[in-house]
Amino acid sequence: MDISSKRVLLIGASGAIGKHLKNHWQLTANIKLCTAGRSDQDDYYLDLNSPSNCPAHLFEASHFDTVVVLAAMSNIAACERDPQLARYINAKAVEELYHIIPAKNWILFSTNQVFCGDKLMPRRNDITQPISEYGASKVALEKCFESQFYRVAILRLTKVLMPEQPFLRASLKKMLSGEKVTAFTNMVMAPIYIEQVCQYITRLLFDFSGGIHQLSGQRDISYYQTLVMLSSMLDLDVSLVEASKTGINTPKYSALHVDTLENSLGFFSPDIESVLGQFLAASRLN
Ligand SMILES: NC(=O)c1ccc[n+]([C@@H]2O[C@H](COP(=O)([O-])OP(=O)(O)OC[C@H]3O[C@@H](n4cnc5c(N)ncnc54)[C@H](OP(=O)(O)O)[C@@H]3O)[C@@H](O)[C@H]2O)c1
Repeated sequence: MDISSKRVLLIGASGAIGKHLKNHWQLTANIKLCTAGRSDQDDYYLDLNSPSNCPAHLFEASHFDTVVVLAAMSNIAACERDPQLARYINAKAVEELYHIIPAKNWILFSTNQVFCGDKLMPRRNDITQPISEYGASKVALEKCFESQFYRVAILRLTKVLMPEQPFLRASLKKMLSGEKVTAFTNMVMAPIYIEQVCQYITRLLFDFSGGIHQLSGQRDISYYQTLVMLSSMLDLDVSLVEASKTGINTPKYSALHVDTLENSLGFFSPDIESVLGQFLAASRLN
């Protein structure tokens, strides 16, 4: 592993994963971080609606060892409303940036939603079949870069659990004050914990391997089962969780196959108990 100091450009540091990654890297001495995005906190202003207007500093010289692009249109409903914009922001704009900003390696992000969810644990080379516009925009991203896998890694992530996860936090807070909550039995996730994702991205900076990577929890669990499990871990009254069903068509599975590629970089699919345990330990609900 190359442990020399890395110059990294992070695009999308203000997003959910970006905030954690930035904090994680503040504890890592040998990363020189620069951020770009639309937030006041970013070092450089960059809007994916117009990537060619990015500041000259970003393309004038070979500043970066790795560019990490977390910026995306990640809201599923917004992607359904404007599929053309979703494909532009999530795929085309990233490709344009790739041709503008000189860097040795790139780390990009995709999702289990490139698959339709009718098959257990799809492998990285299985045929993609998205059923949402968000998933379709990520398939478009993967296709844009398939000839560049010698220096581009695309991480397909399942649900990344973070301490601030709004639905779980709000539901558990209600239960702590004795209120009933409802959760879907027909919406599933195979969660991984944010810390694992940050560690994996960091490892890739120093030990780069291109192509598609899949980071996934061991198995799927419904949102209803998740709340039941969390409430029993907190010694709450499990009967406060009421089951309901969403009327929309939801994928049966979200978990992805993880193999020696991810294992060699330190990632092993976590079991649900450990992910929920980490979530509870960090979320300070009381
Ligand atoms: N979180 C998960 O569970 C999960 C699971 C699978 C895959 N992923 C993927 O991981 C990546 C990061 O996810 P996330 O959860 O951190 O997403 P997020 O919270 O929605 O953050 C998205 C980031 O993109 C920025 N952004 C959006 N449109 C932009 C534009 N036109 N120009 C510049 N910046 C723009 C946002 O900044 P503004 O505030 O300026 O909009 C924000 O910083 C995404 O590619 C997502 O698809 C996430």
